Amino acid sequence: MRLIMRQSEKDAAVWTADYIMQRIRFFSASPTKPFVLGLPTGSTPILIYQGLVGRHKASLVSFENVTTFNMDEYVGLAPDHPQSYHKFMDDHFFSQVNVAKENIHMLDGCANDLKAECAAYEEAIKDAGGIELFLGGIGEDGHIAFNEPGSSLTSRTRVVALTQETREVNARFFSRVDEVPKEALSVGVGTVMDAREVVIAAAGKRKARAVAACVEGPVTQMCTASCLQMHPNVTLVCDEAAIAELKYGTVQYYLEAEKR
Ligand code: PGA
Repeated sequence: MRLIMRQSEKDAAVWTADYIMQRIRFFSASPTKPFVLGLPTGSTPILIYQGLVGRHKASLVSFENVTTFNMDEYVGLAPDHPQSYHKFMDDHFFSQVNVAKENIHMLDGCANDLKAECAAYEEAIKDAGGIELFLGGIGEDGHIAFNEPGSSLTSRTRVVALTQETREVNARFFSRVDEVPKEALSVGVGTVMDAREVVIAAAGKRKARAVAACVEGPVTQMCTASCLQMHPNVTLVCDEAAIAELKYGTVQYYLEAEKR
């Protein structure tokens, strides 16, 4: 694991946007060899998307040969629902960069057959050649995508039940907690683990416990992000507040490692 620490959330997002831009540029993507990018929603990625949009507008990066797969979507929210992840992605990213419509993949939380929808998503990822880089966040309970505590570490894309804690955390986007859907479609821990590279962004004090569990804790389904300890190419990008619960020695080790 690589751990990047920056003082502010903004500085951490700048690092992440620069890193993703460089990965796409050096990949030499083409129509027959697209860069396959896994993408999250939530508060943390907003600054990262702003960074990528800014770099695109400055002609520093093109998304022409980028194929995207989003992590999750609420069950029962139509794509034009203000709180759907379709709408979020359109507002914050897709409408402002040159990703071709046919290269955008998002789970349909209103599909008639949700199980078939999830199976088709896994197939589509495989057909695209697998995910080159999965960008993600981490939940306060240590989830990656919507893989709540108790999710199998080999899980694949499926219908998941959201915990009350996650619904309460996400209620800030809705008017009331009962409006937050009880279910979502989410890629599995196994789906994220199959990506050739994973980059996780975490910012703020409220993520400190989850970051510590992810980096220093045991690998356990009770903190699904801890599974990333088993991944050969993971970078965790944090601001100062998010590393507050890490041990002094852990922080020193990762700081030294970045100086090499
Ligand atoms: P957040 O969500 O960026 O809104 O904190 C992250 C997550 O739940 O994965």
